[in-house]
Amino acid sequence: MNIRSFEIPTVMKHGLGAINALADEAKALGMKRPLIVTDPGVVKAGLLDRTIKPLQAANLDYVVFDKVVPNPPIALVNEAADIYQREDCDGLIGLGGGSSMDTAKSVGVVAANGGSILNYEWASPQPIKKRIPPTICIPTTAGTGSEVTLWAVITDPERKIKFNVGGTALIGAWLALIDPELTFDLPPAVTAATGMDALAHAIECYTCAYAQPLPDSVALLAMEYVGEYLRVAFAQGRNAEARYKMSMAAMLGALAYGAESAGAAHAMSQSAGGVHNVPHGALTGRLLGPVMEYNYLGEPHKFARIAQALGEDTRGLSVWQAAEKAVEAVMRLTEDVELPTLQALGFHEDEIPMLAEIAFQDPQTIGNPRDLSVQSYVQIWRRTFEMGKK
Ligand SMILES: [Fe+2]
Repeated sequence: MNIRSFEIPTVMKHGLGAINALADEAKALGMKRPLIVTDPGVVKAGLLDRTIKPLQAANLDYVVFDKVVPNPPIALVNEAADIYQREDCDGLIGLGGGSSMDTAKSVGVVAANGGSILNYEWASPQPIKKRIPPTICIPTTAGTGSEVTLWAVITDPERKIKFNVGGTALIGAWLALIDPELTFDLPPAVTAATGMDALAHAIECYTCAYAQPLPDSVALLAMEYVGEYLRVAFAQGRNAEARYKMSMAAMLGALAYGAESAGAAHAMSQSAGGVHNVPHGALTGRLLGPVMEYNYLGEPHKFARIAQALGEDTRGLSVWQAAEKAVEAVMRLTEDVELPTLQALGFHEDEIPMLAEIAFQDPQTIGNPRDLSVQSYVQIWRRTFEMGKK
């Protein structure tokens, strides 16, 4: 029997200026001394100040851990979890991009379940037994959607891989507080990379073998928003409508991703992200077009629908022609928002056999819309390098 389910424990609240409601929301969840988990970039951008202002105004005590790094390693999570314990904290506020929110959720896993985050690498049976303490996730980018996913991605420097923690509602944030104003001053390169990550979540989940109606429907709207607003947000950082829609695209794409697996682009970027420490969105976005070019043969009708969601005119076209348009649309978008090439990200062609091998080992290889072998990954990596030579 194959029973499908969709579950999310996270309340989603969003709006321009939503950050000002933080103290009330934290108190409503019973927090008296939350640990704010964030990174130096967020502090420098002045977003930590904006976050603590409502807490101070409401006389709510808090502790700050601001040492999160991109692709957070095991030791960092365990260090923050020690501080949580030592400082007698009773809740978590994850403020930042995917790395800060994933770290906050992971600290919650350790705080509730004990030990090291390494003990909670996803496996069957599920190693997480207890729900994380009250946790509010506040995204400062529009891409990862970690505020609504049931996953955290942690780096193991020893094995040179990233591993997944979660796959259970026990790790879900209690509240996602989404304020698109926090993304207004993101540099264009970050807007581009994170927005393409949101698109990758939507496209990969919509086309993967685990697709089901609820995630599929939110994934399609995420694609529409990215197709219509990513270029605008990239070009006009303070365009409120574009920023709002991109924040929603990230949330919707992640709702699809949070309950499902992704596909080859994420298998490649997550495994390769353990080799070179590069922005997840930039690498995933760069791989998305070539992966779709490889994949569309498997699900032509779905790829035709993606083309429509991205605003392509498919009238009078065969299904195959329309499906190809989806690939072209993503390739064009990748160039329009100036995503870095693999070469610029520091990858070398002589790494292809190794990169193909580790991608094939990634669990997200299973469920990809077209069958994959190590050789097919070699082909996709090679194609992506070629695009960087033009
Ligand atoms: Fe992603």
